[in-house]
Amino acid sequence: MSATITSSKAATNADPTVGEPAYLACNGVHKSFGTTTVVRGIDLSLTRGECVALLGPSGCGKSTLLNMIAGILEVDRGVISCDGVTMDDPKRGVRLPMQKRHFALVFQDFSLWPHMNVRDNVAFGLRMRGIRGSKRQERTDRALDRVQMGAYAKRYPAELSGGQQQRVAIARAMVVEPRVLLLDEPLSALDARLREELRDELSDLIRDLNMTTIFVTHDQTEALTMADRIAVMNEGVIEQIGSPQEIYTRPQTAYVAQFVGTSNLLEYETCDERVAIGGVQLAVNVSPRKPSGRCMVRREAIAVHRVHRDAPARVVDMSATNNGHVNIDAVCVQARYLGGTYDVTARDKAGVSWRGLAREPIRAGEAVSLTFSAEALCFLAR
Ligand SMILES: Nc1ncnc2c1ncn2[C@@H]1O[C@H](COP(=O)(O)OP(=O)(O)O)[C@@H](O)[C@H]1O
Ligand SMILES: [Mg+2]
Repeated sequence: MSATITSSKAATNADPTVGEPAYLACNGVHKSFGTTTVVRGIDLSLTRGECVALLGPSGCGKSTLLNMIAGILEVDRGVISCDGVTMDDPKRGVRLPMQKRHFALVFQDFSLWPHMNVRDNVAFGLRMRGIRGSKRQERTDRALDRVQMGAYAKRYPAELSGGQQQRVAIARAMVVEPRVLLLDEPLSALDARLREELRDELSDLIRDLNMTTIFVTHDQTEALTMADRIAVMNEGVIEQIGSPQEIYTRPQTAYVAQFVGTSNLLEYETCDERVAIGGVQLAVNVSPRKPSGRCMVRREAIAVHRVHRDAPARVVDMSATNNGHVNIDAVCVQARYLGGTYDVTARDKAGVSWRGLAREPIRAGEAVSLTFSAEALCFLAR
């Protein structure tokens, strides 16, 4: 369950699915509103059953892309196809109307009809398609069962919890047996606690349904927990696409590193087959592709310990590498309790600021050592 996706802006990950045909594909898709280009040459393809998250900050073009795929918005340039059939190709005058795509779109607010009970909400799409009688009844029951809402068929939306409403919205989307499920920020309207609960539920549901799904979110945790692959968007382009693990541990750009997780971004230079990082002339035996640039280390990869004043001098140098571990002497600037651990900001003697995690309380002004594995260093393409 994965596929090829490329971006016009950044280098992409090696294709893990050579040979697997794309089910849904966007090629060179562009969209402008007036003189502003909002989507710039997006290439994206999903295999059947795959779930891809479009992750990025507000205004980066996620909904615009989703709405073009859904057929709500017209494509300016580029091609969108599904199951080998071209749906959009303005150059050839092709544009399949929304209702002929057989895609289902679920919005942020679920958009259930308050005056209809659960069964009627779910049956609505079938009624509109002229499906009647026992056929409609059977398909409605099946959709309700798939989301485990059969027992609530007679209730009205106002009598359901947020999670149940979401299930009904998904049953209503699924009942017409769409080829692709499109979700636009399905959890954003909820408060933090409910969102977390529903995130797990929705994630299980998407997996169970085994639907080809694209969901839009600005929330990294949602993307990391729910998607097979994440496409990180920035100003209308896909910066990087890959599995959640790839995006998290091997970001290719500073933008991706900063948008997902908390990391230290540092300048590096190579000298004499070693790499100097930050202002500390830290030397590690790894070889980046470029002679100089930026690298990153995740906050949680750096262990912060208080240096006890009566302990024997630990390192002579202010920084050192041994057994693939990097040690840096620094002074705590700030520590915040996160529950269980402390988020520590510390400055080394060259004035470079680092963020790491400590298991013990540390006060500003205290001497600390920062330790991380050289393997935790990730060199960025940009
Ligand atoms: N119908 C429209 N007319 C003009 N500008 C639009 C329209 N829809 C979206 N935009 C603009 O396009 C950009 C991307 O919007 P959108 O795709 O909704 O972003 P996202 O979903 O990532 O938050 C924003 O700057 C938004 O203001
Ligand atoms: Mg949006």
